[in-house]
Amino acid sequence: MSNISLNTKLLKIVKYGDPILRKRVKDVIDFTNLSIFTQNMLKLMYEEKGIGLAANQVGVSLNILVIDISGMDEDENLKPLILINTKIIHTEGSISMEEGCLSVPDIRADIVRPETITIEFQDLNQEVHIRSFSGLISRVIQHELDHLSGKFFTDYLSPIKKSMISKRLVEISKDGFPSTGIIV
Ligand code: CO
Repeated sequence: MSNISLNTKLLKIVKYGDPILRKRVKDVIDFTNLSIFTQNMLKLMYEEKGIGLAANQVGVSLNILVIDISGMDEDENLKPLILINTKIIHTEGSISMEEGCLSVPDIRADIVRPETITIEFQDLNQEVHIRSFSGLISRVIQHELDHLSGKFFTDYLSPIKKSMISKRLVEISKDGFPSTGIIV
C-alpha cells in the first residue's frame, strides 16, 4: 500500500458518528509523504485550536498522531510531537482531568486515566523511540491513542452522564455541532 495520496489530501475534521472513528487503524508501513501529511495535520489542528489530532480524525485510518501543547504548558515539550505507530508499553498512577475533542465539539468531561505513560513510537525517519510522559501531554497522547483504537473519551462516562450528552451526540452526528455545549 502506498501513501502517495496523502500528499494531496484536503484535510478536514471528521466528527462523531462517522464510522471511520470507530475503526481500529493500521500501522504505517510506507512512510512516503508522511512529513507533508503530518504538517498538514498540524496546520489543521492549529486552525481548529486543538492540542492533539489523530489521523483517523482527518479520515486516514493509520497510526499517526500530532500533538502540540506549547500554548498550554510553559515548561517543556515546546516542539510539536509527531508520533507514528505508537504503542503504550507501561502506565502508572491515576488522575482525573477535563477533556474535550475536535470530533466531539462543545462537550467536555472529567475523565480518569493513568498519570504517567511510557510509549514506543517511530519518528518520521522511522527511528524507534521509547519515552515517558506525565501531565497534560500524557493525557493528550492517551486521548489520541484512544481515537486510533476507535474509542472516544465519552465512552468512559457513567450511564447517567452518557444520557446527559446522548442528544448532543446525535446532533453532532447530523449537523457537526450540538445545539448547546455541556460539561459533565
Ligand atoms: Co479527540
